[in-house]
Amino acid sequence: MSSNTKRLLFIFGTRPEAIKLAPLVKEFQSHPGKFEVKVCVTAQHREMLDQVLDFFSIQPDFDLNIMKPGQSLFDVTVTALKELEKVLDAFHPQLVFVQGDTTTAFIGALAAYYKKIKVAHIEAGLRSGNKYSPFPEEMNRVLAGRLSDFHFTPTQQSVDNLKKENIHEHIYNTGNTVIDALFLGLDLVKKSGEEKYRKKFPGINLEKRMVLITGHRRESFGEPFENICHAIKEVAEKFGDVEFIYPVHLNPNVQKPVIKILSGHANVHLIEPLDYPHFIWLMSKSYIVLTDSGGLQEEAPSLGKPVLVMRDVTERKEGVDSGTAKLVGTDRQVIVNELMKLLTDQSAYEQMAKAVNPYGDGTACKKIVEKIMNIVF
Ligand code: UD1
Ligand code: UDP
Repeated sequence: MSSNTKRLLFIFGTRPEAIKLAPLVKEFQSHPGKFEVKVCVTAQHREMLDQVLDFFSIQPDFDLNIMKPGQSLFDVTVTALKELEKVLDAFHPQLVFVQGDTTTAFIGALAAYYKKIKVAHIEAGLRSGNKYSPFPEEMNRVLAGRLSDFHFTPTQQSVDNLKKENIHEHIYNTGNTVIDALFLGLDLVKKSGEEKYRKKFPGINLEKRMVLITGHRRESFGEPFENICHAIKEVAEKFGDVEFIYPVHLNPNVQKPVIKILSGHANVHLIEPLDYPHFIWLMSKSYIVLTDSGGLQEEAPSLGKPVLVMRDVTERKEGVDSGTAKLVGTDRQVIVNELMKLLTDQSAYEQMAKAVNPYGDGTACKKIVEKIMNIVF
């Protein structure tokens, strides 16, 4: 290693962080003379993280393996922070990368700060303006932002959000790396041929119209989640000719109501979380996306799929502004009405089903690497 080689540490722990950081890790690794790149996974997620690591062929250098079934925010926070101290002492990175708004992202930034190591925040500047929604993500990203030295934003709106918080320096608007990952994934799917993907879904008629569903937000646990499930059940019963596919998040707070309310319906398919290529292939085949996920709100517009967002507020307003996403909250009747409208009113459907890319053009990783090469740290 030459003395000019910079030591970079990527810290992540969940499925979406892994998807959004994997192409960036690869991009930095393609400059071995300039960067020594190491990956630390807290493994706040386990199976759902490993699916992504496998797909992108990333072998972590440090695996904190902190996931315990049903663990609390306190458990994740404390264990990750304590374990990260050892990793930072072992590798002495000059720059730490964190992504987004998970507890791993916040704690990764905090740990680096405690060691006076510079922090780069990927997907900086998203704000809903409501500290309890999404919870705890809104505060995680605000705090990660305060702790960071370099801010890589996906859109102009996120640049403006940071400036409103008096963060003015080292903001680089590159687009979201989620689109880089999506293009990479779709390319691979195309190369390996559709048949491979179709085979994964025996018993589901993919020639029919299909509603793809995901949901996992903490602020919706309990009654809101039950409302969501009852709404899906009601529409599924009315539209027997439509397939509803729901890869169910492994969080027990999600699994329990979903299985209780939605199992046993012929056109509702509750399946395990899918690996990333199968999931994006399925999304490309879907008719409507019904979700509370952040990542899906970014991916679906790229694929021209209408997204009904089961939240009261979103930090991804660009999709709503461009007309492909609509906030429907967690009220049973509102979800039923909006889903039925899209299934019965062709012109309402077509108004939403247009491919737009407000979140990036697939070149974010290249831009981030270029910037980092030119920053002195
Ligand atoms: C976490 C993030 C959230 C992100 C989401 C992406 C926090 C507080 N939450 O929420 O911001 O949008 O990931 O999916 O950072 N589990 C498994 N296997 C897995 C993953 C989860 O069994 O691979 C179960 C475990 O019981 C675990 C529980 O899900 O304790 C909750 O996981 P956790 O990471 O705490 O929260 P998520 O709801 O997944
Ligand atoms: N995803 C996946 N398999 C699934 C569901 C989602 O690979 O079964 C991908 C999806 O394409 C997106 C990301 O996971 O890139 C979203 O993750 P999640 O909804 O868990 O988190 P959020 O984006 O809400 O933080």
